[in-house]
Amino acid sequence: MTEHTFVIIKPDAVEAGHVGAILGRYEAAGLRVEAMDLRRIDAGFADRHYAEHLERDFYPPLREFMTSGPLVAVILSGADAISTVRGINGATDPTQAEPGTIRADFAENTRRNAVHASDSRESAEREISLWFPKG
Ligand code: CMP
Repeated sequence: MTEHTFVIIKPDAVEAGHVGAILGRYEAAGLRVEAMDLRRIDAGFADRHYAEHLERDFYPPLREFMTSGPLVAVILSGADAISTVRGINGATDPTQAEPGTIRADFAENTRRNAVHASDSRESAEREISLWFPKG
């Protein structure tokens, strides 16, 4: 079923020049770019995006990292886009990521892990309206 999902190409992957390679993997899987923006975010915006993680020990350095440089915010659409993208991305911890996934190939560690993607329809809806409020 056709869905929309939200992806961030994180600052580590932008800095390393992997934007084109990452987008190419999604497109090769039949997903389509519906919106895309290179931007920097501030700490307040990171807190809104990661609202569910604010109290976690790993969050302060994650916020520092996500505000450290430009990232690319992307809306993708396609068949089962949410689970398709999560499969292409691989596990959050790159040491656990399947060979051939984005995180296996491009992530440095669990924080600097190249990409973020929505994990459910509810989070996709929330994240898309946070990052692209004009629709
Ligand atoms: P992301 O998909 O952006 O959503 C939450 C992020 O928190 C996750 O990717 C990781 O980058 C980060 N994260 C989750 N668990 C840990 C952890 N144990 N240590 C460091 N970062 C983490």
